[in-house]
Amino acid sequence: MADELKVAVLISGRGSNLQALLDACAKPGFPAAVVRVISNVAGAYGLERASRAGIATEVIDHRGFAGREAFDTALDKAIRATGAQLVCLAGFMRLLTPGFAEAWSGRLINIHPSLLPCFKGLHTHRRAIEAGVRIHGCTVHFVTPDLDDGPILVQAAVPVLGADDEDSLAARVLAAEHRIYPLAVKLIAEGRVTIDGRSVRLARETAASDALLNPPE
Ligand code: GRF
Repeated sequence: MADELKVAVLISGRGSNLQALLDACAKPGFPAAVVRVISNVAGAYGLERASRAGIATEVIDHRGFAGREAFDTALDKAIRATGAQLVCLAGFMRLLTPGFAEAWSGRLINIHPSLLPCFKGLHTHRRAIEAGVRIHGCTVHFVTPDLDDGPILVQAAVPVLGADDEDSLAARVLAAEHRIYPLAVKLIAEGRVTIDGRSVRLARETAASDALLNPPE
C-alpha cells in the first residue's frame, strides 16, 4: 500500500465508476489505492459499494453549509486529512469553486459522458442523439475552474446506432467509462502524465494507445 498513489473518490449517486476504480485497485500490482470515498448525498449507493470493499466513507452534505465556498473548504479539509494525492470525481453532482479547482490543479480529475469538447454539461446522451452524431463516448479530464473544460487525459469512442435511445446509448458509454477511468488513474499513478497547457502528454504513449485500442474485458 505504501507505494501506491492514494486516491479519494467523490460521489453523489450510484457509484458504478467508483466500483470500476475499486475493482481495478483490488487487482494485484495496480499502482493506486482508494483511501476514502466522500459523498455529498447521505443515501448514495456508492457508499455501500465502498463499505463492501472495506473503504472508509464520509458524508459531507452540502445543504449544511452557507454556500459553495464553505462546502468546498470542508471538502478540501476532509480530503487533505486522508493524505490523498489524487481526487477523482465520479458522478459528483456539485459544481466546485474556482478556489478548490485551483488548489487541486493537476491532482483533480473527472469523468464526463461525452467526447469533450462536445456536449459539456448534462443530458449528453440525449443531446448526442438529437445532434445526429455517429460517434459518441466519454472523457477523463483534469478539472479546471471552467465546467468540463480541462486538459483531456483519456477518451473512448462508441458508435451511435440507429436503434439507440438515451438509455441504450448511456449503457454503451458507461461500459467504456468503466474501462477508461481506471486506465486514467493508472497512467497518473505510473507517473506518465504531464500537463502541457491545454494538452496532456503521455510518456510511452504507444503503450497507452494500445491499451485503449485493446481494452481488457
Ligand atoms: C457517469 O456517467 C459519469 O460520466 C458522470 O456521472 C455518471 C456517474 O455514474 N459524471 P456512476 O455514479 O459512476 O454510476
